[in-house]
Amino acid sequence: MLKLVAFDAYGTIFDVYSIAKLADELFPGQGQALSLMWRDRQIEYTRLVSMADPQEQGSRYYTSFWDLTIKSLRYSCTRLGLSLNTSSENALMDQYAKLEKFPDVVQTLSLLKSKGIQTAILSNGSQKMLQEVVDQNGLSELFHQLVSVDDVKHFKVMPQAYQLLLNKFSCQKEDILFVSCNAWDIVGAGWFGLSTYWVNRFHLPFETIGLPPSFQGSSLTELIYHIES
Ligand code: LAC
Repeated sequence: MLKLVAFDAYGTIFDVYSIAKLADELFPGQGQALSLMWRDRQIEYTRLVSMADPQEQGSRYYTSFWDLTIKSLRYSCTRLGLSLNTSSENALMDQYAKLEKFPDVVQTLSLLKSKGIQTAILSNGSQKMLQEVVDQNGLSELFHQLVSVDDVKHFKVMPQAYQLLLNKFSCQKEDILFVSCNAWDIVGAGWFGLSTYWVNRFHLPFETIGLPPSFQGSSLTELIYHIES
């Protein structure tokens, strides 16, 4: 029986498009390249940190997602030959707290709540980042918990990160549906043993390794149909 639906944050609940838009205002013509490289490097850094020290009690190289996000921004600007001053860096980082929810979020979360299904965010984002963006979007009443990998000092796709859901909720793996826009996150959660829903908002191909998602759709609205069927 489905007891918990856990959502990734960035790109799944919150629309990161405004970051690319701001990047393009600051660096005309380079916004798309910068935001793509920044996102890739940000995730690359999370993997480096966890893989270099995969021990159970957390990686000794752990530093918050906020910190890795700043460092990956600096790298990407240097790599692209863009001069990042303090005010541009602050503006781009502040945007993380100001991201807007996708239009399908409230309806989906409200419906889950009305069915007595618990909801959570499980994100690489630090607790502070998550709390700020959730509050800013008026979503705090719609999530039972905001779960940050800060608690285990490992990033997704380390099993310890997905295990947090079992530790924080009295659930078994089979009671949980994990939802993400990131195909790699769906692969990680699937390998961990969770059922998954891939929100393929941009009609991308799925990864060529890993278990395919249990369900997929182009929005969160279609998730509701799978739960209801
Ligand atoms: C997260 C990123 C990976 O919220 O989207 O965990």
